[in-house]
Amino acid sequence: MKTPLKVTSFEEYQDVYRKSVEQPEEFWAEIAENFLWRKKWDKVLEWNFKDPSIKWFRGAKLNITENCLDRNLNALGDKPAIVWESNDPHEDHRILTYRQLYDKVCQFANVLKNNGAKKGDRICIYMPMVPELAIAVLACARIGAVHSVVFGGFSSQSIADRIKDAECNIVITSDGGYRGTKEIPLKNIIDDALVQCPSIKRCIVLTRSRTPVSMIKGRDVWWEDEVKKVETQGNPDCPAEEMDAEDMLFILYTSGSTGKPKGVVHTCGGYMVYTGYTFANAFQYNQGEVYFCTADIGWITGHSYIAYGPLTQGATVVMFEGIPSWPTPGRFWDIVEKFKVNILYTAPTAIRSLMSFGDEVLKGKDFSSIKKLGSVGEPINEEAWHWFDEKIGLGHCPIVDTWWQTETGGFMISPIAGITKTKPGYATLPLPGIQPVLVDENGKIIEGNEVSGNLCIRFPWPGMLRTTYGDHERCRTTYFATYPDLYFTGDGCLRDADGYYRITGRVDDVLNVSGHRIGTAEVENAINMHSSVVESAVVGYPHDIKGQGVYAFVVCPNKHGDDELARKDIMMTVTRIIGAIARPDKIQFVSGLPKTRSGKIMRRILRKIAEGDTSNLGDTSTLLDPAVVEEIKEGAL
Ligand code: PRX
Repeated sequence: MKTPLKVTSFEEYQDVYRKSVEQPEEFWAEIAENFLWRKKWDKVLEWNFKDPSIKWFRGAKLNITENCLDRNLNALGDKPAIVWESNDPHEDHRILTYRQLYDKVCQFANVLKNNGAKKGDRICIYMPMVPELAIAVLACARIGAVHSVVFGGFSSQSIADRIKDAECNIVITSDGGYRGTKEIPLKNIIDDALVQCPSIKRCIVLTRSRTPVSMIKGRDVWWEDEVKKVETQGNPDCPAEEMDAEDMLFILYTSGSTGKPKGVVHTCGGYMVYTGYTFANAFQYNQGEVYFCTADIGWITGHSYIAYGPLTQGATVVMFEGIPSWPTPGRFWDIVEKFKVNILYTAPTAIRSLMSFGDEVLKGKDFSSIKKLGSVGEPINEEAWHWFDEKIGLGHCPIVDTWWQTETGGFMISPIAGITKTKPGYATLPLPGIQPVLVDENGKIIEGNEVSGNLCIRFPWPGMLRTTYGDHERCRTTYFATYPDLYFTGDGCLRDADGYYRITGRVDDVLNVSGHRIGTAEVENAINMHSSVVESAVVGYPHDIKGQGVYAFVVCPNKHGDDELARKDIMMTVTRIIGAIARPDKIQFVSGLPKTRSGKIMRRILRKIAEGDTSNLGDTSTLLDPAVVEEIKEGAL
């Protein structure tokens, strides 16, 4: 039996939700019937959270690109799949119909094959937000290669770490990319990374900015030349590789509270079902609607809700290369008007930043096409929620506040547009198939409403991560060992009197800066690499636009130059090691860090000082050197 992906009323949501909990396998099998399989599954679900071992749709065969492309050719071949808007408002936009996208994906899949790519190979993609990025991603999936997309804001070192961890053999990049007034020399950054990466045998370079680049014989080739070769070979099609439901689809690196970023692994079958289902249902997507997701494909939001989810549903997706504030802070609204966008999915940090330019910018803009709004990436404050609702949604568009994570693959707790009553700041209710629980410090499940605790999920869902690449034990300890038999999200959460969920933010040492996840340990490691730094501690503090800012306390007794230069040097070090997105907003030089007698840094105290709340620092008597706290308080920025 096939169940429609979209519910049509709140009562139906409740019925479907109940069924998804009582008979999860039947429920997901009925949802999965909406997709194209080469072979159906033998068993819907096998799992335990102890190892963990999670297998959805065992024995099923598919290729996700047949669901995104081939299946849509008959009915939607001439309809736009991707509508691309350049960074430069004067450059023509591009439209790729489903047929054109199909052709280009097949063509590039053949380029990959010509360059030695095979099923199971890992391919790193480091590209600007141009249609070829989506084409590269889908071409990998077409031939069964595992893509590892690295966001264009990461440094050479970060790319090298990711390439080495996944042992990639091919990298796809472009000469450069544009973001606002900046030109980012992507190939040059890749070249610096490749010095450390002997596993890379081929680098395919798209022409975008005509930034001068070095092209190394035998390793580097131009995208356009390779496409020409495929054209002259006369093989326009590329049959999709048959994939097992549990074969790897992609790796995406994300930060945690310790060590280097980990490669979250998603697999083909479950991820496809989950992203397609949640996209259709939460946004109540109707055929023909124009959907604009402002994320970058370098993040999970772009993977799940620019590329895969919407394309499986035959959606028209607007993809934007630039930034919201360039050349004017009205850029998003110009795009909305230009393409008559019906669904706008963006992040609280973008909303707050656009709010800060005042309502003057909105004058004369036409928002009448917008029917539904979405928010993702961090808790949305009520002021931003209301502004979004009133000024952009003109008071009549549901706001779908989607809570989810790189690891969850797709939306977890979210309103269903127009069906779930919304409440500012609340992600509201779990989607069908999702069983959230709140637990106390000891892992005891907290029942009832008007409670808060740590957010966990007690039953698997098809889009969840399966492992962290090359290190399954790390996956177990990070997500499944804190509380036995539960997936731990790392988020704090409250459940109000109506049973609605509100995410309150991370409870671990992970920061959320402008919706980007940054591990404090990662930033500390980068700062500590600076030659005059002895040690450092990084915490978050509330930031009006970014949500959280990065506050670094740094012990740096032998500065080279004055404080200002030393700060800049440290910033430069972090930019080199991680990328500009992790640069501290504030650096306070201190003579020591508050530590317990056993040498543990008391972050609680530093967090309070960074937040500007020094009234009650709690018990400091157990500190090794209580005087240091006074000094830090006085020097606070
Ligand atoms: O803290 C939560 C926050 O972002 C974290 C996940 O980050 P990442 O894996 O980079 O994925 C971001 C895009 C899905 C979560 O642990 N977060 C995400 N969405 C929301 C949110 N916090 C509050 N409300 C949300 N809607």
